[in-house]
Amino acid sequence: MDRKSILNSQDLPTPYYAYDLDVLRKTLSAARLAADKFNFHVHYAIKANSHPRILKEVMEVGFGIDCVSGQEVRHALDNGFQPENIAFAGVGKADWEIDLAIEHEIFTLNVESIEELVVINERAEMAGKKVDIALRLNPDVNAKTHHYITTGLEENKFGISRWQFNELVEVVRASSNVNLVGLHFHIGSQIQSLEPFKNLCTRINEYQSFFLDQGFHIKHINAGGGLGVDYNNPDDLNNPDFEPFFQLFSDYLELKPTQQLHFELGAFFSSELW
Ligand SMILES: Cc1ncc(COP(=O)(O)O)c(C=O)c1O
Repeated sequence: MDRKSILNSQDLPTPYYAYDLDVLRKTLSAARLAADKFNFHVHYAIKANSHPRILKEVMEVGFGIDCVSGQEVRHALDNGFQPENIAFAGVGKADWEIDLAIEHEIFTLNVESIEELVVINERAEMAGKKVDIALRLNPDVNAKTHHYITTGLEENKFGISRWQFNELVEVVRASSNVNLVGLHFHIGSQIQSLEPFKNLCTRINEYQSFFLDQGFHIKHINAGGGLGVDYNNPDDLNNPDFEPFFQLFSDYLELKPTQQLHFELGAFFSSELW
């Protein structure tokens, strides 16, 4: 059934969800092509739309998954994603959610606070494992989007703030069951200009220097998601241009040799479905 018939149909049951897989494939492929140009890695933020049919397309294009709850991690695993392609952030993780991530040895468990780091270390010790973690840091960068979907300011509950770094480093060093492999950031959603991302790059460079000076080997940076959808032109779906977004990170983020850069884009893919 085409778009017009669906919209005009009186017979379809409600709610009725229709997705245009051609548009999705086009958007995913464009993102893949642009990311490959820079050798960047993309995780689909599963919260944007977790329908198995959509996840199948995400898997086929070769993206990983970004989760913010244990149920999302389970759903990603149930839909065939490999643990090494699953990132897991989220404030206030329950013990069972941490245990699930530890059991499956996922790509990274993103630590949102010093208190959570202590719990993760304890749970990993109980499991007899050493778990790969990324620290979710609060960059105090204004995403210039709606304040309800702004996550990167000091006043937001997300991530560990700059003033906590000295204590953070002490706790990481004392935590023998975690392995610090990454730094994670996510400044918000529906971001309409590239400027906040440029500011994010500057802040990541500064924060990363701090951790390198402390002797940590940071294998990857995760710059989060947030690429905004142009709701003023909802039908303009055919030419999603990811290159300027990735180019900006390539220009301004000081990646170290062999360091990987990851992104977690969600809404931009799923809002373009119809
Ligand atoms: C940690 C994290 N990463 C990525 C995303 C995806 O953001 P977006 O859908 O705006 O691309 C979110 C969304 O809230 C998030 O919380």
